[in-house]
Amino acid sequence: MKLETARLLLKDYTSRDLNHYFALKSCKSVWTYSTYAPLEDKIAAQAELNSLIERSINDPYTFGALFLKEPETYIGEAGILSMEKNAGRCVLGYNLLPEFWNRGYATEITTELVRYAFSNLKAERVEALAQKENMASRAVLEKSGFLMEGILRHYGKINGKYVDVCCYAIISEDYKSLI
Ligand SMILES: CC(C)(COP(=O)(O)OP(=O)(O)OC[C@H]1O[C@@H](n2cnc3c(N)ncnc32)[C@H](O)[C@@H]1OP(=O)(O)O)[C@@H](O)C(=O)NCCC(=O)NCCS
Repeated sequence: MKLETARLLLKDYTSRDLNHYFALKSCKSVWTYSTYAPLEDKIAAQAELNSLIERSINDPYTFGALFLKEPETYIGEAGILSMEKNAGRCVLGYNLLPEFWNRGYATEITTELVRYAFSNLKAERVEALAQKENMASRAVLEKSGFLMEGILRHYGKINGKYVDVCCYAIISEDYKSLI
């Protein structure tokens, strides 16, 4: 998948992105609200990246590498992570390097992913999950037109503690009223 916005470019990860991938996956503050265990070494990053690239040959629904256009700079990842074609339901996600937080980039790519899901994938519903305490991610979803539909209590376990997760979604009807 390749998407472009005013400031950003989203493209498939390639083997040339190893340093980018490792920078993101080893950055502990990116994974505070995630069950993902930050990587300790580049060998593990290489294996994970290879497997992501291989899987994406048959299944396009995964994270892509997100770049600033000018000058071209890796800032993180985003993408449509899964698609249930029969129901027209998909899930999106994003993770950015801390030095690029709070500049509107996640909202910009989320808005474009939502447009792509409804226009190109003919989705009926786009979903995203965010841990209840992850206020930045919740703000991104709310600014992008998602509604919080409920709280999935004790949905995940992070560092031995159960956490509540907010379920957000936007359906085609909501989207039409936004555009
Ligand atoms: C969540 C994340 C992607 C947001 O990216 P971003 O580019 O900073 O998002 P945006 O700039 O588009 O919007 C962030 C909004 O959150 C708000 N925000 C940030 N921290 C906040 C906090 N602690 N409490 C309340 N709001 C907060 C910002 O003010 C901004 O809202 P505004 O534009 O109305 O001021 C980024 O913080 C990140 O990568 N975090 C780590 C990984 C992660 O949590 N991924 C999502 C998993 S669900």
